[in-house]
Amino acid sequence: MSRTFIVAIDGPAGAGKSTVAKKLAKRLGFALVDTGAIYRCVALEASRRGVPLDDDARLGELVAGIQISFAAVGGESRVYLGGNDVTAAIRAPEVSMGASKVSARPVVRQGLLGLQRRLALAAEQGAVLEGRDIGTVVFPDAEAKFFLDASPEVRARRRHAELGEKGVEASFEEVLADQNRRDRDDSSRELAPLRAADDAIRIDSSEASIEEVLLRLEAEVRSRMARRG
Ligand code: DC
Repeated sequence: MSRTFIVAIDGPAGAGKSTVAKKLAKRLGFALVDTGAIYRCVALEASRRGVPLDDDARLGELVAGIQISFAAVGGESRVYLGGNDVTAAIRAPEVSMGASKVSARPVVRQGLLGLQRRLALAAEQGAVLEGRDIGTVVFPDAEAKFFLDASPEVRARRRHAELGEKGVEASFEEVLADQNRRDRDDSSRELAPLRAADDAIRIDSSEASIEEVLLRLEAEVRSRMARRG
């Protein structure tokens, strides 16, 4: 039997990855692994334990013992850290900044590789992973790779609306500035910087609706699944 079918969706914040990944996983009956949520859990746990975000020794210990799981509850995807539901807590702006910081630490990226791979390969049918380096580092041999992008303004507008829906207060300007800073950090770090894999299908979602993007990804995955048999 061939291994679990892996779909990698990479791209910058606000490109529509989360929505598309969630819906795609549901339509295909695949597990969803939100790897950004994993980095967010590390940042949240570090802040709860008072671990400085540049203390590699303590971050290494924290990552080695971290317990993260995902579950679909009533059609909603929930994130658990040590058994507690942290779905809302990990979306706070300070956790976003913390996640960007810890994701630049090699000890954290290395320490989370096994967890990301295990969570995906445990899925029976297949798994959709969304992140920044899935197609380049976590699963360079993924069966399907996509790189989703959109203009900075469109991405910030989406993020701003999303935060508003969740009751998080932030101005559009703050969201855009925050996003620009994170984009710069994410793309300029030495280890696993944000970039499309050479064999990724690039999609710009600035002008396209979520449904249009989704249909394109679904068609591509289904055709590859059929070819694989
Ligand atoms: O997608 P997100 O906003 O939830 O990601 C949170 C942070 O984690 C973001 O700054 C980028 C980082 N990240 C990463 O470096 N590698 C991944 N595979 C996923 C996220």
